Amino acid sequence: MWEHERLVVRTGARSGMTTMVALHSTRAGSAVGGCRMKAYEQITDAVADVLRLSKAMTLKCDAAGIPHGGAKSVIVVDRPLTPELRRDVLLDHADLINEFAGSYRAGPDVGTGPQDMVVLRELTPWAYCLPEDQGGTGSSSGPTARGVLAALEAAAEHTFGTSDLTGRKVVISGFGSVGELIAEGLAGADITVSDVDESRRSGRFGWVHPDEAYRVEADVLVPAAVGGVLSPETVRDLTVKLVVGPANNQLTDDSVADLLAQRGIVWVPDHVASAGGVIYTLAREDDGDDHETALKRVDVIGTTVRRLLAGR
Ligand SMILES: NC(=O)c1ccc[n+]([C@@H]2O[C@H](COP(=O)([O-])OP(=O)(O)OC[C@H]3O[C@@H](n4cnc5c(N)ncnc54)[C@H](O)[C@@H]3O)[C@@H](O)[C@H]2O)c1
Repeated sequence: MWEHERLVVRTGARSGMTTMVALHSTRAGSAVGGCRMKAYEQITDAVADVLRLSKAMTLKCDAAGIPHGGAKSVIVVDRPLTPELRRDVLLDHADLINEFAGSYRAGPDVGTGPQDMVVLRELTPWAYCLPEDQGGTGSSSGPTARGVLAALEAAAEHTFGTSDLTGRKVVISGFGSVGELIAEGLAGADITVSDVDESRRSGRFGWVHPDEAYRVEADVLVPAAVGGVLSPETVRDLTVKLVVGPANNQLTDDSVADLLAQRGIVWVPDHVASAGGVIYTLAREDDGDDHETALKRVDVIGTTVRRLLAGR
């Protein structure tokens, strides 16, 4: 069933590259979402991704009580990106964002960062998370990790009878900017990390090959890399009691949530756990909150998780 408001795909005049925006819903307010820059095997994979991710943003805003809807952009990387080409495709994408006349505002996502938002801002006012020295709030990885930690604490209380993860074995799959901050925030836990990028390996934490991350004996799994990692196959092999992480769209399909429940594994939906970044950014950039006040709004994720797990 088609449930989006709009999907626009354009070939950029400057770059010749494909960029797209999916607007899932503006029922609650203008739509917000990130701009993903990534290579895909097929253009249909990119379309599927932008549709799924934009819907997840609507769910995320709803769960976080933010008066906005969900959207997402994808820039399809189809050749090596020189700095000039990167700039051209971002300017092309800014033109596309302008077609939405403010009903979509873009921030960074996988493959883009605050500096890319500066380039978008040259042509469109509808870009946020510029670097702090240029009036924005920069990377949202810190608030995202804080929200995941709040969700982890609340879910651990439900699962283990205590929010204290000291001594528990925690596997973090995806040791990128959010994964690393989560690891640092879990003082006292026995942490093992995993990443396809071997250069991320550090002596500070245990290390497991990405293929083993979903099988290794542990108490908690934190998916912090890519989506589609919880499938009937991976869920069958899980040894953990709790899964909480920032990766968007973790389930291969909704029926996997039932498989997790049947196996007695507590799973906090990613659209709840990963909302810290968007909560923080909008609190600062729209509502004018200071840093500490915006972080307190992120901590509400813990209350939401307690309420959900109590069935309320
Ligand atoms: N950064 C945010 O504010 C934010 C907000 C909401 C959701 N998320 C989601 O959280 C996840 C992590 O975000 P991030 O900002 O840390 O991204 P990142 O790109 O900094 O880190 C992701 C890491 O995962 C690794 N990786 C990729 N594929 C992998 C695989 N199959 N197995 C193991 N590792 C793999 C990458 O090498 C990289 O180190 C993403 O799914 C992102 O969409 C991030």
